[in-house]
Amino acid sequence: MKIAVLCSGGDAPGMNAAVATVFSTAQGAGCECVGIRDGLVGLAAAQAVPLETVDFNLLARQGGCFLGTSRLPVGMSREELLMAALEGCRSLQLEGLVVLGGNGSLSGLAQLVEHIPCAGIPATIDNDLAGSSASIGWHTAVQHGLVALDCICDTASALSDRIFTLETLGGGTGHLALAVAYAGRADAVLVPEVEETSDRIVERVRLSLRTKHHAIVVDSEGSPWARKVAEVLETATGVRVRGTVLGHSQRGGSPLAPDRILARRLGAAAVDLVCKGESGAVIWNGDGVGYSDLTSAAAPKPLDLGLYQSVWTDF
Ligand code: F6P
Repeated sequence: MKIAVLCSGGDAPGMNAAVATVFSTAQGAGCECVGIRDGLVGLAAAQAVPLETVDFNLLARQGGCFLGTSRLPVGMSREELLMAALEGCRSLQLEGLVVLGGNGSLSGLAQLVEHIPCAGIPATIDNDLAGSSASIGWHTAVQHGLVALDCICDTASALSDRIFTLETLGGGTGHLALAVAYAGRADAVLVPEVEETSDRIVERVRLSLRTKHHAIVVDSEGSPWARKVAEVLETATGVRVRGTVLGHSQRGGSPLAPDRILARRLGAAAVDLVCKGESGAVIWNGDGVGYSDLTSAAAPKPLDLGLYQSVWTDF
């Protein structure tokens, strides 16, 4: 049996570790396994690369995605890309496909399963897939945010009476910002899923200034307050605001242990699935690997509102 592995959408730390496990598990099962360059766009162009000579010992420890990945090209519909990718599968004579990616990639994959066995592995720093409690790359991205928040807290405590904002990635969801804010004991968090009034933000920040002599607000890039909250706070309080935007630095770096473990567990389970001729998503259910159909795995994950309120109310 010949299978291929590819990464799709935004890269995530741990993708290389997962590709390594897909390859070694496939070899152990007596399957041929090739890598596909640049995601579905590369598959459409039948860009297969042999994996036998790849030094996975080094690569599995690195962030990014050595195979390359891609998003939907401008001017192409998702259906056109998927049909072109299917042609690529045929010309490479593939009998199974393992795809690492986020919600767009996994829900798209659902359209291919009637033609070829496909296994989807949740891999996104956003951790926004309803089907899986964690996705590859999430832990590392949360830790990057937390390190930044802790550093800001050091300087905030030293040079007091200032307000700090820290913007995280996360796309249109606030899971990443919320985890950073909760773990780092920020004073407020702003996410796309919850509408906040300027009154509540200002009131909370004033309280922190009174009690701690500084305030730290984490905002998700997709929040309507992103990039605006600093000005609102400075005007309302008359206190200096300093902003940090993490940007794409949050998406790189060597994967943390939980992401490497997730990558190995899900990578191996994905190969088991396609080698049986079956399709679906391999997911993490909190303490073990689970299986789900691709569409429900890729559904949007609701934000944990209890955690959200704790950030705003705890001291
Ligand atoms: O893939 C998830 C993500 O990292 C989001 O957190 C972010 O908004 C987006 O990708 C950025 O995408 P791009 O690299 O295409 O600008």
